[in-house]
This record gives sequence, structure tokens and C-alpha cells, in this order.
Amino acid sequence: MTADILMIRPMLPSVIEALDKTFRVHRLWEADDEDAFLAEIGDKIRGIATGAGVSGALMRKLPNLEIIGSFGVGYDNVDIATAKQRGIRVTNTPDVLNDAVAEITLAMMLALCRRIVVADRYVRDGRWPKEGAHPLTGELTGQTVGILGLGRIGKEIARRCQVFKMQVVYHGRSEQRFEPFPYYADLTEMASAVDWLVVIAPGGAETKGIVSREVMEALGPNGCLVNMARGSLVDETALVELLQSGKLGGAALDVFENEPEMPEALWTLENVVLQPHQGSATHKTRWAMGDLVVRNLEAHFAGRPALTPVV
Ligand code: 8YV
Repeated sequence: MTADILMIRPMLPSVIEALDKTFRVHRLWEADDEDAFLAEIGDKIRGIATGAGVSGALMRKLPNLEIIGSFGVGYDNVDIATAKQRGIRVTNTPDVLNDAVAEITLAMMLALCRRIVVADRYVRDGRWPKEGAHPLTGELTGQTVGILGLGRIGKEIARRCQVFKMQVVYHGRSEQRFEPFPYYADLTEMASAVDWLVVIAPGGAETKGIVSREVMEALGPNGCLVNMARGSLVDETALVELLQSGKLGGAALDVFENEPEMPEALWTLENVVLQPHQGSATHKTRWAMGDLVVRNLEAHFAGRPALTPVV
């Protein structure tokens, strides 16, 4: 029996093609009136494929929903409490993106530290022949990085930092017995001891605002913040103020509180590197993430356990 799947917004062509082979895929974004569409087909829907999150309100419109295949390792945009309450399985796409996210994290740290974007502009603006050598920069070698969230991606970042001859320390909910890196139980204390603070912990209520003004002040005028996790972890207003006043040395930001919007004040700062949420955005990794969404749904509807359930 072919299951009916709801896709909320367009996903990768590879995902749509694969799901179309096995399931009846209902495309919510094509409906003129989404509410009327859901009222008509809601009873039939047994699965959701999404990169756009799922609210509790939507789950309640789908009484026979069994599984949500969410695209992304973070699932803070899925109402997990309601899913649990209704016995709906939720899957995410862990591990397949670890390398891509770790790789761009180091790229952004290098870009910020060595002022690569700024120096590129210096060349393109024709300033080199006129003004001479670009000002000297810092370097990662020998610096200390504190990782907030030494999970699967955090560990890949830690290894790459070691290759760049950096000292690695970390903070998280608890100390990890088999990790060689020094653990700080207190985030502010760690921030005052490091040159770089890399944020790669999950989003959600538990971590909201964890990188507070106090933490960034502790990082200080020579410290740099790197946020690869979710905008919700960082007090963005304080971040902008501290960067503007020189009380924080710099920031490399892939994520923002209200994407794709961000405080435009960031655009004018030279001690900032900005990316439009590119962590996992490579052909190879996005394909693998999509494939995992498909395989989770296929396993579930073939009567096997989902591969990467979160609930
Ligand atoms: C998302 C991400 O997949 O995996 C995550 O948690 O943030 C990204 O890799 C991306 O937002 C998908 O749209």
C-alpha cells in the first residue's frame, strides 16, 4: 500500500524524485488555499518530508500522521513535544553533514583571522598599488579555541583546529570522559580563557541566549565569536554593540536570529565575516541529507525502524 506523504515546501529534486517513486507525494506549496487543501487530504497523510519545520498546529490537522522526516541535523523547528504526545516519530539527518560544516567553520575562522575577504576587496578596489601592503593580520596558529557543544560536528571542528596547531577546550552540558580536551563547566570562564569561541550546540529553549553579553564581554577585544549553530543561541543586539564598540574582537556568522534578515550594522564592520547559512550547503552533503530523509521514510513504511530517529 502506497503511503501518502506531505511535502511542505519544495525539497531537492533528488528527494522529490525518490519519494515520487515510492509514495504519493502531496505538494502543499502548490495549493492555492493551504487550509482547504489540508482539510481535503489531511486524513490520508501518514508522513511528512520537510526542511521547513512542522508546527503542532499542522500535526493536529493530520490525524493519521506517523512520521516526520526532517531535513537537517537541527530539529528545533519541529514541535517535538506535540510529536511525542501524539506518538509521531521524527527523524533528522545527522553525521552526513559533519565534514561540510566543520570545513566551512575553519574557512570562516581563517577568513576572519587573516582578513581574507577584506584583503580581497583591497585588491579589487585597486588599493594595493596606491596604498602599498595590506595591514598585517592575526593567525590561528598557537591560539586557543573553545567549542560550545562538543557533539558530532564539534568534534570534527576540534580535530581540524588541532591540525592548525590550535589548543582546544570545550563547554557543554557535561564533561565527556573520553575526550582529551580540557572541559570548562562554566561558559563565561571558558570565554575569558580563549581566543575563539565556536558555537555548535543545538538550538531550542535550553540554549536560547546562552552566548550572552557577559560571555561575549569575557571573550573580549581580542576574542572572536564563530556561530555555526543557530542565531537563537546568541544575544544578537549585544553582539552588534560589542563589535561596534571594539569590546569584542570579531565574529564569523553563518546563522542569525531572524534569517534571512540580520542587523544591517553587521554589513559595515570589517571585523565580521558573514555567510547565508551555508554550513551544510554543498552538493555532496545536501544530496546525502536528502537521501537520509528518503531512507528514513522508506524504512518506516516498510515496517523497519527509522534509521536516525530523534523521537
Ligand atoms: C539545514 C542546518 O539543513 O542541519 C541543520 O541543522 O542548519 C542546515 O544544515 C538547512 O537549514 C536546511 O535548510
